[in-house]
Amino acid sequence: MKITYASVIAFSNLKPAQISQISDLLRELSPQRPFVPEQLSTAIMFGSLCIAVDEDPSNKIIGMGLLLFRHTATHSSGLIEDVVVSPAYRGKGIGKGIMNYLIAKARGFPRHLDALELSSRPSRIEANALYRALGFELRDTNCYRLKLH
Ligand SMILES: CC(C)(COP(=O)(O)OP(=O)(O)OC[C@H]1O[C@@H](n2cnc3c(N)ncnc32)[C@H](O)[C@@H]1OP(=O)(O)O)[C@@H](O)C(=O)NCCC(=O)NCCS
Repeated sequence: MKITYASVIAFSNLKPAQISQISDLLRELSPQRPFVPEQLSTAIMFGSLCIAVDEDPSNKIIGMGLLLFRHTATHSSGLIEDVVVSPAYRGKGIGKGIMNYLIAKARGFPRHLDALELSSRPSRIEANALYRALGFELRDTNCYRLKLH
């Protein structure tokens, strides 16, 4: 196993096998949501997609995380989404590696970002432990959603 972390600059740079590997990861994350390639393409266009690749021996994408940018009238922040590691690779520091890659990316973003935000269901025990271990603090705010479809 030799894990490297990289950014995907454009959807068109991904090979069909890699798109299929990302699709598998997203199914792990949200089994009920169908994979829509155009959605992934839009996410890459507006955000920064980190992939973790096992270079030895397969060159397979075995983890991912997405950094998006949110600019309001008063501040700019980064939003982390879609963090997932393939089940066979969990517990080996790869989730932490993806998060550290995204945090470094956010720190180096040309426009100053005030903070990084994310949310995670309480039932995602490993993810909540990961985020807390990295210094993310639980915010005291109500989180609302209005479904449009
Ligand atoms: C959350 C997830 C990405 C973590 O990836 P991972 O590669 O297994 O995590 P790491 O090995 O880097 O572990 C990093 C930290 O996460 C926490 N963690 C990982 N596995 C854990 C477990 N089984 N129990 C408790 N904490 C755990 C620990 O704090 C750990 O740090 P430590 O090893 O210093 O104790 C992975 O479990 C996953 O893909 N889960 C399903 C998808 C998901 O829930 N994504 C988050 C959506 S918000």
